[in-house]
Amino acid sequence: MPDTYSLISPAPTTNMQPGSPLILGIMASGSGSNFEAVAIAIENGDLHAKVAVLIHNKPDIQAIDRAQKRGIPTVFLDHLNYATRAELDRAIVATFQTYQVECVVMAGWMRVITQVLIDAFPDRLINIHPSLLPSFPGIHAIEQALAAKVKITGCTVHLVSLEVDAGPILVQAAVPVLPNDTSETLHARVQIQEHLILPQAIELLAQKINTDRISL
Ligand code: GRF
Repeated sequence: MPDTYSLISPAPTTNMQPGSPLILGIMASGSGSNFEAVAIAIENGDLHAKVAVLIHNKPDIQAIDRAQKRGIPTVFLDHLNYATRAELDRAIVATFQTYQVECVVMAGWMRVITQVLIDAFPDRLINIHPSLLPSFPGIHAIEQALAAKVKITGCTVHLVSLEVDAGPILVQAAVPVLPNDTSETLHARVQIQEHLILPQAIELLAQKINTDRISL
């Protein structure tokens, strides 16, 4: 059976004028504090971008409130309504194309993604992870850092590849692990750095994409 994702054309990029803000699509499954950090960096003029839409796969999450407060559209794609991961990703790509998204940020997206999404946004699909990759990939990064008794952990923004938490690294920040840390206290300290490096990484990509626009 042919895979219908090949019928989806890549996200539009060449119609964007040099100097125009990078159009972002955000994917979130939870609190959305990283998404909000991106929105604040844009408001402060530290990031030349615009969030076109937030996709979420869970109802009633805080990320929705953070988007609505800023007038950012939200789209609920319940993963339970899709038979396969690829089908969900096709719906995600179609939504982002509707909003002319150029670059996608997985900001606490708790689903494994497929080649469908990667192919639609080559080198423009990024993720934030709460460890210094390649250490502690997966969903228990904070707990694993504590169990390993490392003295320093951190966070990583990276391009997304099919292997989970393994794509090329864009920006990292180190965070000390303190003797009495719990997963909550350590995660809170890591998140302070996440909120700094995620906008930085997107701005790096935005500048690269703008250079590509000029040379087209
Ligand atoms: C972050 O710690 C991120 O590294 C991980 O999920 C968490 C999302 O937090 N992938 P938030 O929803 O942005 O507050």
